Amino acid sequence: MHIARTVLTPFVSTKQLDAISQFYWNLRAHIARFADDIRLSGTFLSDTSLPMSTLSRLWFIIRCLYISLRLESPHSQQEILAFTRMILLAPPGVIVEAGCFKGSSTAKFSLIAKRLNRTLVVFDSFQGIPENREDHKRDFSGNPICFAGGSYAGTIEEVVTNVGRYGRADACRFVRGWFEDTMPTFKEPIAAAYLDVDLVSSTQTCLKYLYPLLTSGGFLASQDGHLPLVVNVLVDWQKENDVTFTGLGTQKLVWLCKPRNNPFAL
Ligand SMILES: C[S@@+](CC[C@H](N)C(=O)[O-])C[C@H]1O[C@@H](n2cnc3c(N)ncnc32)[C@H](O)[C@@H]1O
Repeated sequence: MHIARTVLTPFVSTKQLDAISQFYWNLRAHIARFADDIRLSGTFLSDTSLPMSTLSRLWFIIRCLYISLRLESPHSQQEILAFTRMILLAPPGVIVEAGCFKGSSTAKFSLIAKRLNRTLVVFDSFQGIPENREDHKRDFSGNPICFAGGSYAGTIEEVVTNVGRYGRADACRFVRGWFEDTMPTFKEPIAAAYLDVDLVSSTQTCLKYLYPLLTSGGFLASQDGHLPLVVNVLVDWQKENDVTFTGLGTQKLVWLCKPRNNPFAL
């Protein structure tokens, strides 16, 4: 890029040079991410322990990549495939997603829910993150973090349209409102729960109301393992509940499997 800048300098203004440079770096980042997604999809494709044929797994991978191209997707293919694996191996119960934004992750999980004849219950305000005073400063990679109230907003109409177009809206039940208001009355057994809620307060609410409903052997995953303040909450939760989150402190998607309540287990 340095050479290109030197060559182009006599012909274009500094502003145009900056725009070209920005475009170049964005394009590089997108290509690198796409290449990474393809590479990591290989692990899912070669996982013959899953109750899904190789062809179906390949078709699912391609659909997820396509959805990511069409919709804003603040997650990686690896994170989606990791939770998909949990859904496929989970005991009976509904699948829960807390935090759907524009519906990209929802569309992907809905394809698997439909296939397994399960319901995907989607909790969201459908007006973005609540007003808050949480000061997250930086994530574990050093990137500045700010979760302003109203960010990551997707209206219910947008989400239903997106999921209908790219996934299976008929496998979903959408629950609109702040978690604090909607979750206390939810009482269904949960097979697998996916939290992507950004805030400490939202994570605490989800853990408080969803974890007791999680079936033994069920999975709970948080997509916010890159946020130091959320990690603190998860560390405390581990201690209080005698459970262990896999990947805590090292990766963005962290997860636990609820211990089976077998008093005779060794
Ligand atoms: C990062 S986005 C989710 C991204 C989505 N899972 C994806 O990968 O496409 C976070 C979502 O959490 C929701 N959210 C966060 N805290 C909430 C709360 N307390 N009540 C309701 N919704 C909340 C926001 O509305 C937003 O849609």
